[in-house]
Amino acid sequence: MILIKTWELAQDEAYPIRRDVFILEQGVPEEMELDEFDPGALHALAYEESTCVGTARLVYLDDKSAQIGRMAVLSKFRGRGIGAAILMALVKRAQAQGMSSLILHSQVVAIPFYEKLGFIGQGPLYEEAGLPHRNMMLLLPEIAK
Ligand SMILES: CC(C)(COP(=O)(O)OP(=O)(O)OC[C@H]1O[C@@H](n2cnc3c(N)ncnc32)[C@H](O)[C@@H]1OP(=O)(O)O)[C@@H](O)C(=O)NCCC(=O)NCCS
Repeated sequence: MILIKTWELAQDEAYPIRRDVFILEQGVPEEMELDEFDPGALHALAYEESTCVGTARLVYLDDKSAQIGRMAVLSKFRGRGIGAAILMALVKRAQAQGMSSLILHSQVVAIPFYEKLGFIGQGPLYEEAGLPHRNMMLLLPEIAK
């Protein structure tokens, strides 16, 4: 089950997952993990039974575009389609809200994951939070009203 919540309602479940995956597993500095975009973002949470095992966020850039980020599934729950379900829930929400494009900063190791869901790599590789990244983009077809 995937639920989409505000940061106020999501943080107690989303942050422990982001801490485990980004800070403890990947070595991202703790002070970079929480930022000023969390309060205005929507957060998707994936549940197995009643336990939250994955999360990602949707940050609004303007009326037509938004950025996916902080995509994380606890290591022992990976490879079961949970990450894809989280991502698709945010893509569908953005599309329903009339967004026309989504962008994200993908870690190079995660590029094949996003490509499977239709995102396309753009531009050169660069370093962010100490890890190699590439920008990716997904154009959203308009939903007929
Ligand atoms: C990236 C991540 C969110 C994927 O979550 P997941 O639940 O394991 O992904 P899924 O099981 O939904 O995978 C969906 C598809 O992508 C593929 N995939 C997932 N991760 C992949 C990887 N690193 N390389 C290649 N393919 C990958 C899966 O094989 C699956 O393919 P299929 O549909 O043909 O079976 C998870 O590995 C993770 O949290 N990684 C650490 C944090 C991270 O790197 N986040 C990305 C930051 S940009």
